[in-house]
Amino acid sequence: MQEVETRKFRIWDIPFVYNLSNQRTVKTWSRSRQISNILQHIEDIVSKKFIIMYKGRKAGMIRLYQREISIAVSEDLRNKGIATEALKQLCSTRQGLWASINKDNRISQRLFMGVGFLYDYEIAQEVIYKWK
Ligand SMILES: CC(C)(COP(=O)(O)OP(=O)(O)OC[C@H]1O[C@@H](n2cnc3c(N)ncnc32)[C@H](O)[C@@H]1OP(=O)(O)O)[C@@H](O)C(=O)NCCC(=O)NCCS
Repeated sequence: MQEVETRKFRIWDIPFVYNLSNQRTVKTWSRSRQISNILQHIEDIVSKKFIIMYKGRKAGMIRLYQREISIAVSEDLRNKGIATEALKQLCSTRQGLWASINKDNRISQRLFMGVGFLYDYEIAQEVIYKWK
């Protein structure tokens, strides 16, 4: 899909990322609900972040913490293939990536498997997928 591109996070993206992180469905599936806030803050600071652009507008973000990848797309732009395309673009140039997805987050599991991630193992409430 040509309308989707990912670019590096810039300091002026903070308000967009803040609003996206506070959307109800993004918060629901965020691991920060399950682990300590301080650990989450450390991960946020050291992680690489990418902004997903759709038709020239900010549509979502991808976070890479070491080799762990996570993604969120704005609620008003869901189910258009944006996350699928953005993940394909970012993963095509990287190796050893993995994702930890809540067992009940069926949409995200469908997304990652559709892009080519493979089921690896389960731990507590999380299912671990690894990049092929
Ligand atoms: C998961 C998320 C990033 C998907 O973004 P998206 O741009 O809507 O995803 P896509 O449009 O590329 O769709 C991916 C798959 O999910 C399916 N899907 C998307 N929204 C759906 C919905 N509301 N109901 C059912 N299936 C849905 C699509 O059909 C597609 O599957 P397919 O390729 O087999 O048809 C988005 O829902 C989101 O931000 N959720 C909250 C945060 C989150 O859960 N992040 C994942 C944690 S790592």
